[in-house]
Amino acid sequence: MDKITVVGAGNVGATCANVIAHKDLTREVVLVDIKEGIAEGKALDIWQTSSINNFNTRVVGVTNDYLRTKGSGIIVITSGLPRKPGMSRDDLIKTNAGIVKEVTERVTKYSPDAIIIVVSNPLDVMTYCAYLVSNKPSQKVFGMAGILDTGRYRAFIAEALDVSPKDILSLSLGGHGDSMVPLPRYTCVNGIPINELLGQDEINKIVERTRFGGGELVNLMGTSAWYAPGAAAAQMVEAIVDDQKRIFPVCAWLQGEYGLKNIYMGVPVKLGKNGIESIIEIQLSKEEKKLLSESADSLKKVMKVLDDMKLF
Ligand code: LAC
Repeated sequence: MDKITVVGAGNVGATCANVIAHKDLTREVVLVDIKEGIAEGKALDIWQTSSINNFNTRVVGVTNDYLRTKGSGIIVITSGLPRKPGMSRDDLIKTNAGIVKEVTERVTKYSPDAIIIVVSNPLDVMTYCAYLVSNKPSQKVFGMAGILDTGRYRAFIAEALDVSPKDILSLSLGGHGDSMVPLPRYTCVNGIPINELLGQDEINKIVERTRFGGGELVNLMGTSAWYAPGAAAAQMVEAIVDDQKRIFPVCAWLQGEYGLKNIYMGVPVKLGKNGIESIIEIQLSKEEKKLLSESADSLKKVMKVLDDMKLF
């Protein structure tokens, strides 16, 4: 791919650009920020690791110069404020909705065919916002969250079992919030169901810690996480650039799948060069369905806040 744009040179955006460059997924990464010098500085810093870490991807930073993003194949939107302790992701909607709207308008103008990956919070509703603005098919506008949430979940399980995190396979559904639905029934260690290796109490504790995994980091650092969110977004970019057809939990536009309509929410999808190539519907127990519908209800409340802002 010729060009990938990452909007927002904060911690998440810069980490994402850094991982994309290290994986050599594109000829050029353009990092954009609103604050003078930040994107230029971070891009230059990343680019100066190219000879040390052996990658070719040119990393360029610009301040608000969207013309420089022209012709991007993928745009990753990370713009917006991060959480502070005591805030939920939903508290960010008032500030971040306007930002995501403006950024989406500007990137779409110069790269009408690009795939958009949204990372800004509150994730599911910001993805909805980008979809409304961009006028693109929903296969090309989706959000990163499930890879991050399952990344945390897999790390906690690997720690509990003292095994490689690579061997933990798992799935999470629902919104990227405290009502997310990690699915122990769809979790295994290289094929061994998790409940054969861990007791129910321990699994419940890990599920709970995963749900509040973002908050745990906000409390530790006073701001939200970046290494895992940035790496998770870059993994989605990789699946698209290399047409890998990987199955990931992704925030996608639902039109009847899982009995839900007109809502962006985390579900398993196949990711390839066309973006979301299919949404996979898995069998859920009564309890899992209930949790998913609670998560959808909480997302609908945030969607209503966005609708009430009358930005569209
Ligand atoms: C998190 C934020 C980035 O979960 O949503 O860490």
